[in-house]
Amino acid sequence: MNLCVVGAGYVGLTLSTVLASLGHFIYCIDKDFHKITALQNNEIPFFEPDLEDLLIKSRKNIKFTTNLSVGVEHSSALFITVGTPSLPDGSADITAIHSVFNELNTIITEHKTIIMKSTVPPGTCEELKSKLTLPNELFTIASNPEFLREGHAVFDMYNPDKTIIGISSKDKTTVPLLQQIYHSIKTPYIITNLTGAELIKYANNYFLATKISFINEFARICDTFDVEIKDISKAIGLDPRIGKEFLQAGLGYGGSCFPKDLKALQSISIKNNIDTPILHSVQEVNATQVKFYINKLKNLLIDLKDKKITILGLSFKPNTDDIRNSKSLSLIDELLLSQSNIHLYDPISNLPSSYQSIVTQHTSLEKAIENSECLILSTDWQMFKSLKWEKIKSQMNGNIIVDGRNFWNKSLIESYGFTYIGVGRP
Ligand code: UGA
Repeated sequence: MNLCVVGAGYVGLTLSTVLASLGHFIYCIDKDFHKITALQNNEIPFFEPDLEDLLIKSRKNIKFTTNLSVGVEHSSALFITVGTPSLPDGSADITAIHSVFNELNTIITEHKTIIMKSTVPPGTCEELKSKLTLPNELFTIASNPEFLREGHAVFDMYNPDKTIIGISSKDKTTVPLLQQIYHSIKTPYIITNLTGAELIKYANNYFLATKISFINEFARICDTFDVEIKDISKAIGLDPRIGKEFLQAGLGYGGSCFPKDLKALQSISIKNNIDTPILHSVQEVNATQVKFYINKLKNLLIDLKDKKITILGLSFKPNTDDIRNSKSLSLIDELLLSQSNIHLYDPISNLPSSYQSIVTQHTSLEKAIENSECLILSTDWQMFKSLKWEKIKSQMNGNIIVDGRNFWNKSLIESYGFTYIGVGRP
């Protein structure tokens, strides 16, 4: 089948590549000329494991272009995967979606199924129906939200835990169409209305973020009562009603999705006079977690001024170079308030230019650690798992290790004479 994917970000590019590998021919469209030129040369503008190899294998089935008309003309179905970032008031900015729909008004001349994959506020797809000035028989709008994780995007796209399809009441064609498109992907299908599908996406991210903030708040309780948070996570995770995933305590969640989607949901609730105290608290715990653990560090080092502090990891999680809402940036902001001398190492991500003159980013882990008073792990990259603690002890000036992801073996580290601060690990 010929298909058009509008937007070549994490979702759009992974979707294009996976659908191409299933035998479809994909027109992958993006307004960004430089991005499209790079993709035409098989250069992926971000780091995502397995994507490049799959792209090269499926390359003959993908055309990268900035020309939306070409993609629309040749395809029966269009996937919308453009970004919906946060506006200053927290609401989702859907201008990119509106501009695609404006263009579609002038391009569509025969029936197209328009499938919304971008995360959009409830009611957006219904609203977009009236935004299209075309005769009703020329388009069908459906919602098919995406649940892939950055860093596991290819795996998740082949192995979704569910496929949600939101359709209008009289739509009899979209479900069989999507089942045909995803033909060899085994997944339970949940069919609902357009707004239901939009809300399922928010509910999913909200619930996962809630689990993280729950365990992070509980970690603070564990700190006081001399109890390991890992024991709590393991024990409650065995209850099938709770489940073991997303109970890893740490410095909090980052990335482009949870922070953005929870803010958008908050803004939707405020606009509709809905009281959402849980939603507020989940964000509050996340926003204060870094400060809570920096205060612990201050209790040990007293004055952080001019002290060399080394942060390990910059991306918001391992296996990605995405630094949006990374807790490493929150750590930097917090340490800057204390006028610390901040050094950083990450295997692939780079500091944004606004931080480059105030934080020293090293390309050598050794140089980042040398003469440091304190090492803070912010991103649990596998390469940090088996550090040589004896050597690190001799390289550092101080002896404090803050394990912001509960990634290391506490007693092993302490056996080398370090003082270990974990999250809920007294
Ligand atoms: C998240 C969801 O997991 C995806 O299902 C969803 O499709 C995506 O958002 C989206 O809306 O596009 P992602 O942001 O890629 O995916 O990252 P996650 O793996 O969910 O991690 C988010 C953050 O939570 C990271 O900072 C991670 O370190 C943190 N986290 C995760 C914890 O602190 N503890 C945990 O137990 C799990």
